[in-house]
Amino acid sequence: MSKIGLFYSFNTNKTAQAARKIGEELGADHVEHVNAETLTAKEFLAFDNMILGVPTWFDGELPNYWDEFVPALEELDLKGKKAAIFGNGNHKGYTENFIDGVGIMADLLESRGAKIIGFTSAKEFTFESSKAQRGEQFCGLALDFENQASQINGKIKKWVEQVRQEFSEK
Ligand SMILES: Cc1cc2nc3c(=O)[nH]c(=O)nc-3n(C[C@H](O)[C@H](O)[C@H](O)COP(=O)(O)O)c2cc1C
Repeated sequence: MSKIGLFYSFNTNKTAQAARKIGEELGADHVEHVNAETLTAKEFLAFDNMILGVPTWFDGELPNYWDEFVPALEELDLKGKKAAIFGNGNHKGYTENFIDGVGIMADLLESRGAKIIGFTSAKEFTFESSKAQRGEQFCGLALDFENQASQINGKIKKWVEQVRQEFSEK
């Protein structure tokens, strides 16, 4: 399997914590950490397999650093690429926009031809609405540090096994 690009903001606390754990689970030799704060199209296109850390901010929106990359992203050809998204959110505090950022990013990547992998069950959370919901699943991994801190590492471990398998499938 080719090296996985792991894109997230190095300036965050919880997203970076989750990303470090994901990197550990994948194994250092299999992953390259890339700072989403200074991301260029060239860096993004360097990987066929990618994992993106996309927390939701501003009541259902992308964080500013991802938002700034959207105009470049909208020009890219992502055919043949696979992307998995993990996203921090708060299902009790933001029940109408729970992990919307994951859904916004998945839609953008798909519109450019990428295949989204790493879907998870949405049943473990109660929420009103989420742009990340596809049927009974989320199109990524939901991480709620505020309400489920003790479950984070276990969820990451399980998800990494899943995406490792999905990246390796034809
Ligand atoms: C002002 C503000 C707005 C937020 N909006 C949402 C939201 O719309 N949906 C959601 O699921 N979480 C929302 N959250 C929760 C964050 O996504 C959560 O705290 C996350 O862990 C932040 O990760 P980060 O610090 O790594 O960026 C919001 C948090 C703040 C402080």
